[in-house]
Amino acid sequence: MADTQELIARINALALRSNRSKSTLSRLLFGNGKRIDEIEAGGSITLTTYQRAAEALAELEQTAAAGAHAPHSSRYPEGRAAFPHKHLLGIAGLAPHEILFLLDEAEQWVELNRQSHKRDNRLAGLTIINAFFENSTRTLLSFEIAGKRLGADVVNMHAAQSSVKKGETLIDTALTLNAMRSDAIVIRHGSSGAVRLIADKVDCPVLNAGDGQHEHPTQGLLDALTIRRALRERGVTEPFSGLKVVICGDVLHSRVARSNVHCLTTLGADVRVCAPPALMPAGIEQLKVTAFHDFDAALEGAEVVMMLRLQNERMQGSFVPSPAEYRHLYGLTPERLSRAAPDALVMHPGPMNRGVEIDSIVADLPERSLITTQVEMGVAMRMACLDVLTRQPRGVEGWQ
Ligand code: CP
Repeated sequence: MADTQELIARINALALRSNRSKSTLSRLLFGNGKRIDEIEAGGSITLTTYQRAAEALAELEQTAAAGAHAPHSSRYPEGRAAFPHKHLLGIAGLAPHEILFLLDEAEQWVELNRQSHKRDNRLAGLTIINAFFENSTRTLLSFEIAGKRLGADVVNMHAAQSSVKKGETLIDTALTLNAMRSDAIVIRHGSSGAVRLIADKVDCPVLNAGDGQHEHPTQGLLDALTIRRALRERGVTEPFSGLKVVICGDVLHSRVARSNVHCLTTLGADVRVCAPPALMPAGIEQLKVTAFHDFDAALEGAEVVMMLRLQNERMQGSFVPSPAEYRHLYGLTPERLSRAAPDALVMHPGPMNRGVEIDSIVADLPERSLITTQVEMGVAMRMACLDVLTRQPRGVEGWQ
């Protein structure tokens, strides 16, 4: 029998240093077999189990020592060449190094946001307008919090209470916001392409907070950041390379799906999309994904399962027979999740229809559900985007 005292001490030290729970480490080191707390309570393990765990622990310790979330500055060019775009309208067309640059930039804000004093004044004096023509909880609040934590003055324009209701056109609204000398405009709109229309009319950077069925780029980025951090915590050094991701649900109406497909395929993931035939866009294979109508088949070996909401507000007529039937075929239940890889990660951009596309027991799975982490990463990712896109107008060295 192996002496486990030193092993347990090292595991405890790593849990503290890497901010990982002991149950996560337990699963990483011992699989689904004997757990650390049992061993701590005096349970013995075989020499083979001990040796395997010690080897895996040494690798995790090395990753932690190298800085699990350290940036990869060698992967992208210096200064403005790292992200030479005025606006963030979509992920389509971004180079892998541009996406990685934004993810790396967000890491510092994850750390700041976990402190009690969450303040960095680099955007002090700037005015950011959040113009939301559609409802939002996560995106609106996180952009507001992001701007404020960076010291900017942030104002929110809710279309329902604006002169849009009196018939003002989108172009006139854009010209009005521009005349107020805003330094960045964040826009959510129900029409695909509306955000580009506004970007073409204003002087400042424009960030797309979701336009119709087109793109939701900061959601794609925050999802990639969430996945990268979760897998790095498991000791995976190249998290996106060949990563098997399933995106399932109302793909037809989902800007989240589109941005995630662009983001994840650009970073090297193997993306499968799954939807009922009526909710699958024609020609989706052109986006370098594999299309499935059978969720059970799509799930085989998946390492990340990303569920999408049925977007009833974008549907004219009935696309699915009933919520119960939809759940039967496309809902993520515990039984269905067991078809995916062991420990597969569960994601959902929110808002969720619990009991329809995802069961509560799955949505709330400790360790494996990343749904609240996605929200946390949303603030950091939006801080990174606001900072990077305003560097050129702020005259930051290397960005003029
Ligand atoms: N994921 C997302 O865009 O959520 P909100 O609609 O609440 O912003």
